[in-house]
Amino acid sequence: MAVFSASGVTKKVGEEIARIAGADFFEIVPEKIYTDDDLNWMNKQSRSSIEMNDLSSRPKIAGTVSDMDSYDKLIIGFPIWWGVAPRIIDTFLESYDLSGKTIIPFCTSGGSGVGRSDEELHKDVSGSVKWKKGVQINRPDEALVKKWLDEVL
Ligand SMILES: Cc1cc2nc3c(=O)[nH]c(=O)nc-3n(C[C@H](O)[C@H](O)[C@H](O)COP(=O)(O)O)c2cc1C
Repeated sequence: MAVFSASGVTKKVGEEIARIAGADFFEIVPEKIYTDDDLNWMNKQSRSSIEMNDLSSRPKIAGTVSDMDSYDKLIIGFPIWWGVAPRIIDTFLESYDLSGKTIIPFCTSGGSGVGRSDEELHKDVSGSVKWKKGVQINRPDEALVKKWLDEVL
């Protein structure tokens, strides 16, 4: 499992999902951590606003998954930013050869559903990949997470 979390919500949910699934956990840490000012969506000039207005923005990631080849399934978690996944998720997906894997997205959000945030990511991955439909999981209810994992893993 790989998770990006700017303010901790997705990380907490992801850690719980990883525990239930028995999955390894990798946090997608930006080279430059997002400050509160960076995350201010009211400000059109904030870092997050500028990145989300630029489809080609690819914020750099500190660290890599060294043994990506050894996994055949990848759960990827992210917060919804302006209806879609933060651009750093595009950076992550474009950084690896994921062909042959099953990719299982989940998101947290302030209210929006997963929408097209998962499908928007399909373009980042070449080769034959099996995408599962993304889900929104704002709180990790163990029974619901188990049911979901049974369906997707
Ligand atoms: C820049 C920015 C844009 C956001 N846009 C949305 C949005 O479009 N819809 C929504 O429901 N929540 C939105 N949110 C709220 C986050 O998705 C939500 O708080 C999420 O759980 C944060 O996860 P994190 O703590 O892992 O970063 C936005 C938050 C930020 C910082």
